[in-house]
Amino acid sequence: MTGLLSVVGIGPGAEDLLTPRARAVLQAADVVIGYGVYTEMVRAWLPGARCIDSAIGEEAERARASLELAQQGKRVALVSSGDAGVYGMAGLALELAATMDPAPAVEVVPGVTAAQAAAAILGAPLALDYATISLSDALVPWEQIERRLAGAVAAGFVLAIYNPTSGRRGHRFAQALAVLRTHLPDDTPCALVRDASRPGEHSAIVSLGHLIDAAIDMRTIVIVGNSTTRVVNGRLVTPRGYAMALMSHTGDAEATDITGQPIVREAGA
Ligand SMILES: C[S@@+](CC[C@H](N)C(=O)[O-])C[C@H]1O[C@@H](n2cnc3c(N)ncnc32)[C@H](O)[C@@H]1O
Repeated sequence: MTGLLSVVGIGPGAEDLLTPRARAVLQAADVVIGYGVYTEMVRAWLPGARCIDSAIGEEAERARASLELAQQGKRVALVSSGDAGVYGMAGLALELAATMDPAPAVEVVPGVTAAQAAAAILGAPLALDYATISLSDALVPWEQIERRLAGAVAAGFVLAIYNPTSGRRGHRFAQALAVLRTHLPDDTPCALVRDASRPGEHSAIVSLGHLIDAAIDMRTIVIVGNSTTRVVNGRLVTPRGYAMALMSHTGDAEATDITGQPIVREAGA
């Protein structure tokens, strides 16, 4: 019998943001393995699923156990929140599989990421080029994270900041803000979304200067706008630049956009 490991992104939390493909793979799996919070969700959606819970921090053991079951001929679903390839289990599973003989087959099933879910709640802040940066220094040196933050904002990217803080890393968010504030003005529009698409979902739009006072935890994603991001009727929007394209045709230096606001050119553009 040929086994298969499916590394499945189960989305940000709402059942209707689980893709039909992910649902079908979970339904067909002999066993579903994941961090307890996520297997709990799968159990609620698919009461018949046979789930094995694993603790946070046991990613390598979880991936190896999943691969060994696939090697034995089982259909295994290894679940990550959001998309399994974004700070999830997909890369680790592929790397470990390559060390095994025979190497079990591995497929990656995409999911709706926290950044996408949060952006939709807020409006359209990620409509142009953006970068996702995790503040977790468990696997990446903090100095590198600071360099990436500085480089991304200097290049004009909107940021989606994952893993903004945790008990052990409580000081990191303040350090990250200090880096951002050397490159961006304090009135830069930003936002946070906690528990996107989960019970108790909370979102707020705040300026960069006020982010330091916001309640941020490890269930929160933070969006940092760029020089063109603005609040439109209570929603956070990074304009795609249709109006600017129009201006370049008309040569109108005083052009306003479709909302009647003066067009602000992105810094460096
Ligand atoms: C290990 S990463 C997992 C990312 C996930 N694979 C994805 O594609 O979105 C965990 C971080 O994702 C963010 N996150 C995940 N789900 C979220 C949600 N429903 N609401 C807000 N943030 C979320 C938080 O920043 C959290 O610390």
